[in-house]
Amino acid sequence: MIGILKSTLKLHPEDYTSIVFFTGAGMSAESGVPTYRGKGGIWHKYRWEEYACQEAFDRNPKKVLKFHEKRRKVLFDCQPHAGHHVIADIEKRHPQVTVVTQNIDGMHQRAGSEKVIELHGSAWRLRCTGCSVVTQDFNKSYKSYTCECGSWLRPDIIWFGDMLNENVITRATKIIGNCDLFISIGTSGAVWPAAGFPQLAKSNEALCLEINPELSEMSYLYDELIRGKAGDILPELFEKIE
Ligand code: OAD
Repeated sequence: MIGILKSTLKLHPEDYTSIVFFTGAGMSAESGVPTYRGKGGIWHKYRWEEYACQEAFDRNPKKVLKFHEKRRKVLFDCQPHAGHHVIADIEKRHPQVTVVTQNIDGMHQRAGSEKVIELHGSAWRLRCTGCSVVTQDFNKSYKSYTCECGSWLRPDIIWFGDMLNENVITRATKIIGNCDLFISIGTSGAVWPAAGFPQLAKSNEALCLEINPELSEMSYLYDELIRGKAGDILPELFEKIE
């Protein structure tokens, strides 16, 4: 059943045992990070077949690395917004808050969130295609395109056609399947298996809310649709009562 806009809805974290914030690209839009679909979306400008799949990397690793390096430069200059900070503050006040994110930008961690499950990896990590060593690299540009062993490094992110990390999915599904408040923010619900998470939360009878200025492919599943931007809605929704 499609819920209705409830701009006056207020939530108190202490009323819930386990809270999950499930975030997508729209969560970072107000920080200046482009989304993937919709207006200004990355996949309208670039064909993922050329930049975001293993086949593209195998064909031309340098071209793919340059694309991701360019995106990192944009991310590097972006800052978390009020919505990211609200989520991080709730985690400090509540024992069971988890962020399950499809984002690779590290913005939740920069705002102070510690329990963050990154479903699609991180733009700030590289993985060696030869020796499989994973390295953190928080600079604007990559330190190197190749590993000490001589093989190409690739961004440690999930590309189209890649399998998600099994441990990561197991952790996420366990937490979501046991939560009693599930808040989805800024995802189109177009990419699986993440698109199945609202249903999983519902199966535990969690209160399921969606924050998004538009309808998503999964909107029909939510108890409430809150139409608006993450940076506006989150501070209103969790307005602190002093
Ligand atoms: P999308 O770009 O598909 O969807 C972004 C969603 O954010 C849309 O539903 C927008 O309406 C919404 N939105 C835009 N601005 C917003 C704002 N200020 N506040 C709240 N919502 C806003 O991004 P994702 O659903 O995250 O995967 O995409 C899922 C995956 O597809 C990504 O992780 C990426 C991509 O291909 C990989 O790269 C593997």
